[in-house]
Amino acid sequence: MNKLQTGCIHLVGLIFIVAIGFSPITSTVAHANDSLYDALGGTDGIEKLVEELLFNVAEDRRIRHHFMDIDVVRLHEKLSEQICELAGGPCTYTGDDMVKSHTGMGVTRSDFNALVEGLQLAMDDLNISISAQNRLLALLAPMHDEIVGR
Ligand code: HEM
Repeated sequence: MNKLQTGCIHLVGLIFIVAIGFSPITSTVAHANDSLYDALGGTDGIEKLVEELLFNVAEDRRIRHHFMDIDVVRLHEKLSEQICELAGGPCTYTGDDMVKSHTGMGVTRSDFNALVEGLQLAMDDLNISISAQNRLLALLAPMHDEIVGR
């Protein structure tokens, strides 16, 4: 078994830990515009969505190498918080900014698109409406320049 295979198994194992025992998103104040948050299934729906995204990433040969040897439980928690806050939910993002989080990774435009594809697949699988999908993608798209080419 080569290093890549070992890493993938490691990643899948960590995601399993996420699936069975991730910590709840930090909840603070309610936000006035919570309709996208609701359309994504609230906090539980968003945590499930991120879990599905991370499963898709782990299976995606184009980008999974970026996610080896990282703290997947933390990534699940921070990404869930971030999406919840962006969607107008009662959460506060407590992670690092996007430039700091992705500096040194050399994420390409194709990598970015591959991750977005994984997110779309996850949203389809969870029967999230196309309108809600597009609204979430529109909120994430502006992060492209903070993430790609760092
Ligand atoms: C809209 C697109 C993206 C968003 C919203 C996003 C968001 C995040 C967030 C919230 C974190 C956690 C920051 C923290 O730990 O404080 C993170 C970490 C990370 N991201 Fe992204 N990301 C995006 C795209 C990508 C892409 C395209 C890749 C690579 C293909 C990538 C690879 C990673 C990796 C490997 C980490 C973990 C870093 C570490 O723990 O050392 N991200 N991202």
